[in-house]
Amino acid sequence: MDDTLLIVDDTPENIGVLFDCLTNQHFRILVAENGMNALEIAENKCPDLILLDIMMPGIDGFETCRQLKSKKQTKDIPVIFMTALSDTSNKIKGLQLGAVDYVTKPFQQHEVLARINTHLKIHHLQKKLQVQNEQLIKLNQEKNEFLGIAAHDIKNPLVAIQSAAELIEIDYEIMSKTDILKRATNISNATRQLFTLIDNLLDINAIESGESKISLALIDILPIMQSLVMIYSRRAKDKKITIHLQASETQYFAFVDENTLMQVLDNLISNAVKYSPYGKQVDIRVSQHDKCTRCEIKDEGAGISVSEQNKLFHKFSKLTPRPTGGEHSTGLGLFIVKKLVDAMNGKVWCESEEGKGTIFFVEFGVDGFTQTETH
Ligand SMILES: Nc1ncnc2c1ncn2[C@@H]1O[C@H](COP(=O)(O)OP(=O)(O)OP(=O)(O)O)[C@@H](O)[C@H]1O
Ligand SMILES: [Mg+2]
Repeated sequence: MDDTLLIVDDTPENIGVLFDCLTNQHFRILVAENGMNALEIAENKCPDLILLDIMMPGIDGFETCRQLKSKKQTKDIPVIFMTALSDTSNKIKGLQLGAVDYVTKPFQQHEVLARINTHLKIHHLQKKLQVQNEQLIKLNQEKNEFLGIAAHDIKNPLVAIQSAAELIEIDYEIMSKTDILKRATNISNATRQLFTLIDNLLDINAIESGESKISLALIDILPIMQSLVMIYSRRAKDKKITIHLQASETQYFAFVDENTLMQVLDNLISNAVKYSPYGKQVDIRVSQHDKCTRCEIKDEGAGISVSEQNKLFHKFSKLTPRPTGGEHSTGLGLFIVKKLVDAMNGKVWCESEEGKGTIFFVEFGVDGFTQTETH
């Protein structure tokens, strides 16, 4: 976009000379004939640079500059004073008031242009830096928050490990074998929780720093689903939950990364089992559509309220439904799922009704160019 320059001068000849030198330079030019007019235009039009004369009727250039620099909307606009060649004290005063530079009359056209371009460049770089700085501050706050929650979640299993180990240290002579075994099981469960949490944190770190290696290819995803259903059917037996896979075709192609898709489906199926009461059923369906392949994971669990559905894919989102068989929960699974699905140009969403159950949908394109429809 063209830069906008505001020329503030009460002498038409000066304005004419500047126009000559600035035309054909892709600038939008605004003109003010006095200080008050300049302040008004600067506030409303936010020019990228102001060329300011000193001697003007009404408020002079110095006062105009002082007022520009005192207002939030105009304080960052670079001001270049226009002054007589020999007037050193005016040059110094202008710079002290916050001007970035001066040009001397009679104008040397190439010099004026070079100075304007230099200061526009600096001004744009400064603006960019400011935006980046604000982003960094926000990211740093997020990281601190993230670290705080992670540290808190690491503490619980560590306390469990410490207390079980201390109990054995103190009482091992009077403890039965069964008691010792129970404490050892506590220690290994808590250790497993820690590993899961650390794996999740590392995954997030890899995704957010752009280091996760995802290479998309058109593959048949049915074998992945079949093997996950087999693994989870065994685990779900403890809760008397049955898992059904419904697929009418023998192959379902999708443009995905095999391991990443496995991780996504693993999270969704593990949630369905984790948040289902004993004796219920989990239905997994795969279907081919015009430009995409869709997987549905349906459970008969407690369901998720509409207000909580908005928080599902956030970091550390442990919501009202709690694991029904004492399983561990870090609240990171779906956050990772969303990031991974995005990285594969897919879509993930859920439909849920409290008291009835939840269906998670995940959809991928069937070629490298298809972006699946928005839901
Ligand atoms: N199928 C589901 N039915 C009901 N609630 C669910 C379901 N899936 C997720 N939730 C809710 O959403 C929250 C976030 O799920 P998410 O998978 O991100 O984390 P998690 O299961 O708590 O822990 P993990 O990081 O081990 O996956 C869960 O804590 C649970 O309250
Ligand atoms: Mg989960």
